[in-house]
Amino acid sequence: MSAYLKKIETLANLAPGSISEAKTLEELEALRLEYLGRKGAVTEILHSLAQVPAEQRPVLGKRANELKKEIERLIKAREAELENEQFDREIARHRMDVTLPGFKPWIGSIHPLNQTQARINEIFFSMGFSLAEGPEVEDEFHNFEALNTPADHPARDVQDTFYLEGGLLLRSHTSPVQVRHMQAHKPPVRIISPGRVFRRDTPDASHSPVFHQVEGLYVDEHVTFGDLKYTLEQFALQLFGPAGKLRFRPSFFPFTEPSAEVDCLCVFCSGKSCRVCKGTGWLELLGCGMVNPNVFKAVGYDPERWTGFAFGLGIDRICMLVHGINDIRLFLESDVNFLSQF
Ligand code: DAH
Repeated sequence: MSAYLKKIETLANLAPGSISEAKTLEELEALRLEYLGRKGAVTEILHSLAQVPAEQRPVLGKRANELKKEIERLIKAREAELENEQFDREIARHRMDVTLPGFKPWIGSIHPLNQTQARINEIFFSMGFSLAEGPEVEDEFHNFEALNTPADHPARDVQDTFYLEGGLLLRSHTSPVQVRHMQAHKPPVRIISPGRVFRRDTPDASHSPVFHQVEGLYVDEHVTFGDLKYTLEQFALQLFGPAGKLRFRPSFFPFTEPSAEVDCLCVFCSGKSCRVCKGTGWLELLGCGMVNPNVFKAVGYDPERWTGFAFGLGIDRICMLVHGINDIRLFLESDVNFLSQF
């Protein structure tokens, strides 16, 4: 075999293996230059054809050209393979695995106080009460004077009330909404008014400087304490079920006469005595009474013609009773671990 043919066949043996082993397009390009580039092995063979004896040239030339074509074909094929592999890698990088567990989106929940308030509203709406609203920033007239609370009453002490500039204050109860509503509407009146109230209390498990009340007011001709009792008893039955028994104790509020404080049978021990009711079997629920004639006078209602009852209950307290929550501060802490339980 001529040295020329030997060169060709050596290359023909070597090239397929080296091309198929190229791992990257860059490596493949280096091989292409090595074989087919201007100074490449195949190019050199073709150039040196001139030195081959003339009668052998057609056969050897043909074989050299076959080699060139074969190498070109192998490089092209390997190039396509490498490009496919690269494409597959890209796809794999972006592919999503539909068998992976999904992310659960966070869904908010209604605050337990709002849930309790909504339940209380619903019960009173079913008895024909409607919703009234009043401002959280009040003046002394609506928060105190019109409610028959004289200037020297302890409830007006700076210890209890947050005073603002210009004779304004943060309402210390929802009772001023009674006054505003009666000033703006003629009797009969049947309203409830839920909302935030503010007192200068040091926070502890049962005190918070911000808490929530629902005020109730019913004014008509011939309204009696019996109406008040029946209304609140029905409310307790609907809220707590058959266990919702009430006890009325004589009390004092400047804006009602007579006044009562109302306890419900302890929902935790059914009146048997436990830690929550401190052994008494009863839990304080609300304050109420017959509207004091002085309040009617302050809003321009004729106390000879109209009578009415009013009550004020703490939403936070009821919510704590219903859910067995032992610290009022939890309501304001925005702790998702707490809130997501409701
Ligand atoms: N305003 C009272 C308080 O915050 C609660 C209250 C008691 C409201 C008797 C009333 C009522 O309407 O008649 O302690």
